[in-house]
Amino acid sequence: QPIEAAAQEVKSEAAKRVKIGIYFATWWALNVVFNIYNKKVLNAYPYPWLTSTLSLACGSLMMLISWATRIAEAPKTDFEFWKTLFPVAVAHTIGHVAATVSMSKVAVSFTHIIKSGEPAFSVLVSSLLLGESFPPAVYLSLVPIIGGCALAAVTELNFNMTGFMGAMISNLAFVFRNIFSKKGMKGNSVSGMNYYACLSMLSLVILTPFAIAVEGPQMWAAGWEKALSQIGPQWVAAQSIFYHLYNQVSYMSLDQISPLTFSIGNTMKRISVIVSSIIIFRTPVQPINAVGAAIAILGTFLYSQVSDPVIHEQTLCISDCQTCR
Ligand code: 3PG
Repeated sequence: QPIEAAAQEVKSEAAKRVKIGIYFATWWALNVVFNIYNKKVLNAYPYPWLTSTLSLACGSLMMLISWATRIAEAPKTDFEFWKTLFPVAVAHTIGHVAATVSMSKVAVSFTHIIKSGEPAFSVLVSSLLLGESFPPAVYLSLVPIIGGCALAAVTELNFNMTGFMGAMISNLAFVFRNIFSKKGMKGNSVSGMNYYACLSMLSLVILTPFAIAVEGPQMWAAGWEKALSQIGPQWVAAQSIFYHLYNQVSYMSLDQISPLTFSIGNTMKRISVIVSSIIIFRTPVQPINAVGAAIAILGTFLYSQVSDPVIHEQTLCISDCQTCR
């Protein structure tokens, strides 16, 4: 009997690992495809405010159709839910548009190297603005993260200040998104998938007027004429669909894994994006630049090993964690 029980336990543990493996593989694959389509679209049609808006619009539409056709059950929300979602959506909008602006100016790999520094922003904001304190190992893990990002930035061949600042602003905005959603998600019954759907819709409402003000239909129409020789509308649609899908899978996978595992998964995701985009776009990389990126990624990995999930429960999220988004 005990042998049977032990065998059963081993079997279910193995099944769980396979399931997590499938989630991770799907999440990374969707993210890699999104990043490639996104950059191809931005190369031909450099209007990041519009493409960011379209990504959110596409996701919102997909979810509205899913709810209407009952493929997914619509969430029950009240005014309080949308009110607490508002600051999360503001931060999500800023983080999303800033990352897209960054990718329109620099190589995808460079944006993701800088974005691998997000844990450093979490710890710094928590310590400096909120007075939190962390074990010394957490602070020590910031040294390779910050040092590696700095080395990668100063040795980047196609450095561009807007591209760099976009990735930095995205990091900062996503830290605040985590902090705000910590309050927002607690105790509400909306699933990860529907929470992300509502976040997309509210972000779309927030972003649309700004996209019109910063770029606007005239610019979009003129640019589209030129872009048509390189890309068609199906490219923009694919970019938007993959944006929604990778985010949705990452939210769904979080139901199955701990925030710590999620954080490690997100770092590994950036490695796949960096490597694949360097190969596909033939991005020139100097050895010293690659060393900087590797140090930053290693630092993020060390950080995920030393940041205690208990801290996560008791204070605020210090990892790149979507539970708190
Ligand atoms: C975006 O457009 O929102 C960014 O590409 C998000 O990047 P991340 O999900 O890898 O943090």
